[in-house]
Order: sequence, then structure tokens, then C-alpha cells
Amino acid sequence: MEGSLRIQGSKNAALPILAASLLCPLHCELLRVPRLSDVDAALSILRSLGCRADQQPEGVYIDSTEVSCCSIPPALMEQMRSSVIFMGALLARFGEAWLSMPGGCKLGKRPIDLHLTAMRSLGAEIETENGSLHCRAQKLRGSEIELPFPSVGATENAMLAACGAKGETLIRGAAREPEIVTLQAFLRAMGAEIEGAGSPCIRIGGLRPVKSLRFAVGADRIAAATFACAVACCGGDVELRGVDARQISALLHFLNAAGCDIITKNRVLRIRAQGRLTAVGPVVTEPYPGFPTDAQPLLMAAMLRARGRTFIRETIFEQRFRQAPELCRLGARIRVDGRTAEILGVEALHGAALAATDLRGGAAMILAALSAEGESTVLDEGHIRRGYEDLELCLESLGANILLEG
Ligand code: EPU
Repeated sequence: MEGSLRIQGSKNAALPILAASLLCPLHCELLRVPRLSDVDAALSILRSLGCRADQQPEGVYIDSTEVSCCSIPPALMEQMRSSVIFMGALLARFGEAWLSMPGGCKLGKRPIDLHLTAMRSLGAEIETENGSLHCRAQKLRGSEIELPFPSVGATENAMLAACGAKGETLIRGAAREPEIVTLQAFLRAMGAEIEGAGSPCIRIGGLRPVKSLRFAVGADRIAAATFACAVACCGGDVELRGVDARQISALLHFLNAAGCDIITKNRVLRIRAQGRLTAVGPVVTEPYPGFPTDAQPLLMAAMLRARGRTFIRETIFEQRFRQAPELCRLGARIRVDGRTAEILGVEALHGAALAATDLRGGAAMILAALSAEGESTVLDEGHIRRGYEDLELCLESLGANILLEG
């Protein structure tokens, strides 16, 4: 693979920001929002609530001045996990939200108990019945929220709801992901008094809303991780532009140990790989700044042909090795035992027909298929477009031979 690629804007930063645009009557322009089906789903939710929300080539425009309802239809809730973040925004603005359980990639159980506990700590009353959620709060009041696990979504929901609360909120045990820091920057631009994102304790003092704003989303660290792993899989010399390499240092550490050359300068990440890599590990997925679960299937793809055995332990999601049996169709040797996968590197992979199981698993299959001898097909029912803008065109621009059908 050879060439230079500008990395798309961050999906997981853009989605909570789209929900946050509801917090107060606002005209807002968001730059570098990627064109993805999850973004389409968030825009549909905003429109269903009465906002104007359009994605143009230059950016996303939202007018949330006239919101006419606070209920999201189940068909929209089911389209993605991030739909649940609208709960905090609706409660903050209207004191009421009618929702149902969110959808999203199937990675095992994905409860929302931490979200609900956080909302209840702020004074919301929530009734759940057959998957529907009715949340009400006459007045949200600032409080101390202690998250027993640093859930990304629950932290975001709590940040949004706390913006509408009277008094100060402290979120302890908060997630520290870069997307939380971006959400804080957006909330500040909206007029929120908030600090601490990136640390385990976030303090929110309330919101003195502005009427309009313009905000640019940063590069998608997992998209950057995907292309870095593509080079590790296939070999080559590629420059990834617009990337904050510190955000994926846990992955770059392993790619480097496996034999890739990595040079970072001024938001450009250059990665070079040649020949067979060496197995690494053990790799353990952890909340940020640990090794990201989203990069786990991607690193797995990169280790399929490495010399030696790689052990990966998945601690974040119950079932995030669903890509493994599909990768084995290419001739990979992977043994999954509960939360651990053992990859025994093989000399070569061969072409096969695979089916994407989820977003990152599907991307991992494409990377592995590119490094296999002969032709492969990856059947995808829409997982990949949830998170990657033109993945096949980007890979093609680096020299991959890949055809999208259908
Ligand atoms: N969890 C609970 N209860 C809760 C919330 C979470 O038990 O109330 C558990 C989950 O079941 C899971 C773990 O905590 O086992 C982590 O969940 P978290 O809430 O941190 O994740 P999320 O907000 O659902 C976001 C990203 C995911 C990413 C994870 C972890 C978005 C839209 N999604 O999900 O991204 O894997 O954080 O970093 O931000 C992806 O982009 O492919 C993706 C799945």
C-alpha cells in the first residue's frame, strides 16, 4: 500500500455532539462530520423532534430553535447505540423524554443501567416497560454521580443532562476518551461551564446558552487505527493526515513492536511495514488510555500472518470476537476461549467468502482479505457504512484492489 490519506472526522465524537445540539435553541454548523449511516440516523432523530438538520458537503447544519416533541420512535432508536444520548439532551431541555432501548452493533449485552442511574441521580424519574423508557424531571438538580465503570455513553449522557440541571454536578469515574474531551469543547462553545474532561472527574456548572455556533470535529482515531492496521496487514508505506497519534498510542506501541516503522510529526502519521511481522502481546482491551476495544479486531487482522502467537484479551464487550470464525475462513488460526483469543500466525492466507458481523469486525475482514492470496468477498449488510466514509475508495487510493457491489 502506498500513498497519503486524510482521515475522516470522528464518528464517536460527532454523534454525541449532534444530540447536544438539542440542549438549547441553537443554530449550529458542524464541520468535518463524516457521511455515515449512523450520522444519518442521528439527523433523522433530530428531524423527528422538529429540528432542521441537513448534511451538506461542507458541513452539517442544525436549527434546534423549534423542537416540537420529546419522543423518539422505536424504529429510529433501534438504528444505533448513540440514540440513547438523546435522553440526557431531551431531559435537560424539556424535562421529559420518551424513548426505547437503543440498537447498535451486536457485541454482547449492552445494558443502559449506568445511563439510567446517572439520570436518576440528577432527579429524573424513569419508568421502563417492555423496552420503552419514559423519563421525566420537573427540575434536574446538580449532584454527584459516581460511575462504577467509565462508560463512554453514560458519561456523555450525564454531561448533557447536567447542563440542564440547577447547581453543580460532579461525574466521578468518568470515561476519559478523546471523544469526551471533544464533547466538552462543544458544550463550552455552547455556553456550558464544564471542566475536567479527559480526567476521571468532570464538573459541570450549568449552561448560559449561545444562539449560534460553528464547530469542527477532529479526526477519527479508529479510522486512523484502521488504515494503520491495513498497512500492517498488507505492507507498504502510507501517510495518514490530520491524526493525533497520541490518541492511538496504545495501538501504535504494538504495531511498532510487531515490526512496523512509525513516524509522527505535525498531525501526520507515517507507517511503514515490510514482510512478515512478529506476534505481540498480550494485548488487553481497556478503557482509554488503554488499548481500545474498537481496534481489537483490526490488530487481530494484522497479526494473522505474524510470526508466533498473539494473545488478545477483550475486557470491554462480552462478544467482540465474532470476526474470528470469519477470519478463519481465510486460513487464519484463531482459538477463542471466552474473553481470550489466541492467534497463531500462518505464512499465508487464501481468498474466501466472509460475512461482516459488526462495524469493526467487518473492517478487520476487509483488511485480512486484502492481505490474502486470491480473491475474497466480504458480504456486508450495512455495518461498515455505519462508521467508515468510503472505506473502499480510501483503500483503493492506497493501492488496494477492492470492488463494492450492490
Ligand atoms: N455498560 C453497562 N451499562 C451501561 C453502559 C455500558 O454495563 O449503562 C457496559 C457495556 O455493556 C460495555 C461497556 O460497559 O460492556 C462499555 O460500554 P460504553 O458505554 O463505554 O460504550 P458505548 O458508549 O456503548 C462507545 C462507542 C463504541 C466503543 C465503546 C468503548 C460510541 C457511539 N460508541 O460505546 O464504539 O466501542 O464506547 O470504547 O461512542 C464503534 O465505534 O465501533 C463502537 C462500538
